[in-house]
Amino acid sequence: LVSFARDPGDGNLPQPGSLKHYGDGLLWLKEGHIQAIGHYADLIDQLPPNSQALDYRGRLIMPGFIDTHVHYVQLDIMASYGRQLLDWLNDYTFPEECRFASHAHAEALSNAFLDEMLRAGTTTAQVFGSSHPGSVDAFFTACQKRQLRMLVGKVLMDRNAPDALIDGTTGISDTERLIEDWHGKQRLGYSVTPRFAPTSTKTQMDAAGALLRNDPTLWLQTHLAENSGELDWVAQLFPGSRDYLSVYEEAGLVGPRSTFAHGIHLDNGMRKRLAERGANIAFCPSSNLFLGSGLFDREAAKETGMAFTYASDIGAGTDLSGFGTLKSAYQVGQLRGQPLTAWQGFYGLTHGNAKALSLNSQVGQLAPSYEADFVVIDPHATSLLERRIQHCNTLGERLFALMMLADDRAIYETWAGGICQHRRD
Ligand code: GUN
Ligand code: FE
Repeated sequence: LVSFARDPGDGNLPQPGSLKHYGDGLLWLKEGHIQAIGHYADLIDQLPPNSQALDYRGRLIMPGFIDTHVHYVQLDIMASYGRQLLDWLNDYTFPEECRFASHAHAEALSNAFLDEMLRAGTTTAQVFGSSHPGSVDAFFTACQKRQLRMLVGKVLMDRNAPDALIDGTTGISDTERLIEDWHGKQRLGYSVTPRFAPTSTKTQMDAAGALLRNDPTLWLQTHLAENSGELDWVAQLFPGSRDYLSVYEEAGLVGPRSTFAHGIHLDNGMRKRLAERGANIAFCPSSNLFLGSGLFDREAAKETGMAFTYASDIGAGTDLSGFGTLKSAYQVGQLRGQPLTAWQGFYGLTHGNAKALSLNSQVGQLAPSYEADFVVIDPHATSLLERRIQHCNTLGERLFALMMLADDRAIYETWAGGICQHRRD
């Protein structure tokens, strides 16, 4: 069992007390929650008679992975060739999102997406639907059936997109209806979702800000400073704003429950403003490499106190797997002279992401009273992993080998809400 109680720091060894590791551990579940965690020998005698025991010797149990930025409606356009952001949106993304006018399609893709996420070990995500409110009803319904903890929102976009995707004034009223129907129900939360500044009018963004002021338990997700063509466009559309971030600030969209995807092209002034408001940037390394958007600067984030999270950004991302996201994050880090330790990576994917989403009392750790969302990792899943793991002497080396070499084959089981949601065949 491996779980992070706090940020392990940047060293080759985790800060003392930040990591819980039980080589021969026992995870005690009760009614969808964790009742206790500890050494097998210490806990085994405390279990009530008739407890059901599962034996995972040789495996590694960690909290379920969290993905802070992903578009379920883009699952089918992953790996669409040869474009950077704005052309990619026009050529592939917008046409694909038009298909979600069909409820049957939204239902099928919601289930396909959740199957893939769970196969990859991801138990919680903050998700973009399409601009059709039905895409979000379908997704929430699928999550509710599986008892997952998920955040999702209907994309708001009232300009600069195909007519079939533009929502106009109904965007906000549909959002209000979805919040009413779903926000806070079971383990579901609503994330208000203006796509990004170029596709929303000032009026729509102001209205989104008003929703957030009305209910501080709502989340906010959008995109920020991903690509240089996007930056020029925002400067043209908002000549009165001093920079890209101030467009969102002026609308009241920047707060402790706000996630801004990418944040590659920021200066330290903007980073500090994000830090002061407690917002987080979703670092989407495989997407940033795929679209050629740029290399996220983790050191600058750290120096300015700006929180950042790890995310796949499917369909621009190339990997649903949290392992794959960390592998790309390591590669981006190397190109910047900022190699990522496995401690930092797995902390980020679990507790770090949970904390940035204010879900830190519910998920992201293996600890008493937490929801029973976890992955059972098989470090011997492939012959290559088997060979590499045999040569590892420490837990840090094993975690690093997983981060670089593992994929969904290494996820033996995924549990959420105390239910086994996926088992590798
Ligand atoms: N910016 C605005 N919309 C999108 C999107 O769908 N994906 C990415 N990567 N960036 C965006
Ligand atoms: Fe995105």
